[in-house]
Amino acid sequence: LELKMNIEEIEKGGYDHFMLKEIYEQPRAILDTYRGRLRTEQGLIKMAGVDEHLDKFMNANRIIIVACGTSWHAGLVAEYIFEDLARIPVEVEYASEFRYRNPVITDKDVLIAISQSGETADTLAAIKLAKENGAFVFGVCNVVGSSIARETDAGAYTHAGPEIGVASTKAFTTQITVLTLIALKLAKEKGVFSEARFREYLVEMETIPAKVEKALESNPLVEIISEVYKDSTNALYLGRGYNFPVALEGALKLKEISYIHAEGYPAAEMKHGPIALIDEQMPVFVIATKLGHYEKVVSNIQEIKSRKGKIIAIVTEGDEQVTELADHVVEVPETFESLTPLLTTIPLQLLSYHIAVMRGCNVDQPRNLAKSVTVE
Ligand code: AGP
Repeated sequence: LELKMNIEEIEKGGYDHFMLKEIYEQPRAILDTYRGRLRTEQGLIKMAGVDEHLDKFMNANRIIIVACGTSWHAGLVAEYIFEDLARIPVEVEYASEFRYRNPVITDKDVLIAISQSGETADTLAAIKLAKENGAFVFGVCNVVGSSIARETDAGAYTHAGPEIGVASTKAFTTQITVLTLIALKLAKEKGVFSEARFREYLVEMETIPAKVEKALESNPLVEIISEVYKDSTNALYLGRGYNFPVALEGALKLKEISYIHAEGYPAAEMKHGPIALIDEQMPVFVIATKLGHYEKVVSNIQEIKSRKGKIIAIVTEGDEQVTELADHVVEVPETFESLTPLLTTIPLQLLSYHIAVMRGCNVDQPRNLAKSVTVE
């Protein structure tokens, strides 16, 4: 047991938990995921799995994304990116729903399956159903040679390295990285992006690892905020646009490792019911970065404050307006709107980690959860 303990300590690299280590590995994991693919000098993105089947993507009627859990949230971010940047219709499906609802699938569909483990039963079943109906299936996995990697027609691996913590962190940001590269490549191939705009994105992508490092510097502040809200029984996460999926992901992180009930919502949807929940006991985590309907998020925050809700806002560094209104503010560096999820998710990962630790929860192996749901 002594030896096992030592090996585990070595593997944690000095961190208290695998999850914290994996949160801090994200700058390197994102870099490793785009390394060799992002060729800024040559002004191109090289991905064999896409290059060899470009016609499938270019002639697709739509892209169907199937996944579960955090991978499903990465799929939602991809929907915003593919539609906004590459102008390709995308629908995102829970794999467990898709496989049973007798969906319409044709040979003009491209199905992208996202799975860290590559062993999730529902996602694997959705892939088989899509292939039976003639769709071209592309996988985004983190485990080489996994069942999903073998079952798909082509794919692109995330290079996050082994993710041990049950709560997915670096898999989420590297999945978004791969999907962004694909969307940028298709935007260029389809002529939606000019040479100049494409190059701007390549250059900005290369700044992301350093910007994630910068976002990680908020850790001490996030720990202080976690202390304030660790005993909450409920929490709301709000975001708009690209950051709506990040709100869902932040809520899932808190639920699965601290066992606090949390819900992610599109910020504007609050007035259609959930705002009735707001009182001084309800912490509301709002992603209010500079781009993407900032003014509307500000008015959502004002509505919540007038009902005595507590606001913890994730803002773009240098923000003043939200900073005036919120009870707590965590800054992330500025980047393109479509790339903000890679940064706004960082403080929310750290928040759920610290709250779980303060509550004495088993952060790396939360109760009732498995790292990969290989059974239905
Ligand atoms: C996320 O933190 C969870 N561990 C879980 O939702 C996970 O994302 C889901 O089970 C999908 O797993 P996969 O990516 O390996 O398919």
